[in-house]
Amino acid sequence: MTKIRIAVQKSGRLNEDSLAILKDCGISIDNGKDQLKATSRNFPLEVFYLRNGDIPQYLRDGVVDIAIIGENVLIEKGKDISIAERLNFSKCRVSLAVPKGVTYNSIKDFEGKKIATSYPNTVREYLESKGVTADLHIINGSVEIAPNIGLAYGICDIVSSGSTLFKNNLKEVEVMLKSEAVLAVSPTISEERKELLKKIQFRIKSVLQARN
Ligand code: PRP
Ligand code: MG
Repeated sequence: MTKIRIAVQKSGRLNEDSLAILKDCGISIDNGKDQLKATSRNFPLEVFYLRNGDIPQYLRDGVVDIAIIGENVLIEKGKDISIAERLNFSKCRVSLAVPKGVTYNSIKDFEGKKIATSYPNTVREYLESKGVTADLHIINGSVEIAPNIGLAYGICDIVSSGSTLFKNNLKEVEVMLKSEAVLAVSPTISEERKELLKKIQFRIKSVLQARN
C-alpha cells in the first residue's frame, strides 16, 4: 500500500507539537527513540525525523511528500514550496537585535555593520528592501552570543519568548517577519499521495477548529 511520507523536525521546538498534532488527528506513531524513520500503525504514513534546514530540499527532491516546518525556514530557503495549512503553533518572529546599550534610531544604523545570523537570505532581502547593505556573518546556532564576543554589531534570529535576547543583553529593534508551523507540500507529490494528504488536511482542520 502507498504511504504518504512526512518530515518532522528531529529535535527542537517544533518536534513535540508536530507529533502532538498528528496524534490529535488520530494518527499513532511508534516512537522508537533515536530512530530516524517511523511508521504509523493506523494510517498509511511514514514519518522522517530530519533537521529543519534540510527539509525544503527533501520536499523539492520528492524524498518526502509533506512536512511540518516553520514558515520562516520556507521563507529562508523554500520559497518555491507551497503551504497547505497553517498550524497555529510554534509562533515566532524573525527579528534584528542589537546590544541593549546601543542607541538605535533606524534600520539605517545597520549600514556597513556586521550582522550574525542563520537566516542570510531573509536578512539580505529585508535590508535590500530598505536600501541598506550590511556584512552578514553566517552561523548556525547560539547566534545571540555574537555581539557580546565582538563578532557582530547585531544579530538576526528567531524570537519566541524573548528570553534568549534578554539573557544575552540584546534588544529587538526590527521585526522582519512573523512565522508559525505550517504543513508544506512537495512540488512533486503523486496523485495517489495527494488523496492521503486530503485526508490528513481534513483531520487537521477539525483538530485546529476544536483547539480554538
Ligand atoms: C532558538 C532561536 C533563538 C531562541 C528564541 O534557538 O535561535 O535563539 O530559540 O527563543 P526565545 O525567544 O524563546 O528565547 P535554540 O534554542 O533553538 O538554539 P540554537 O540557536 O542553538 O539552534
Ligand atoms: Mg538560538
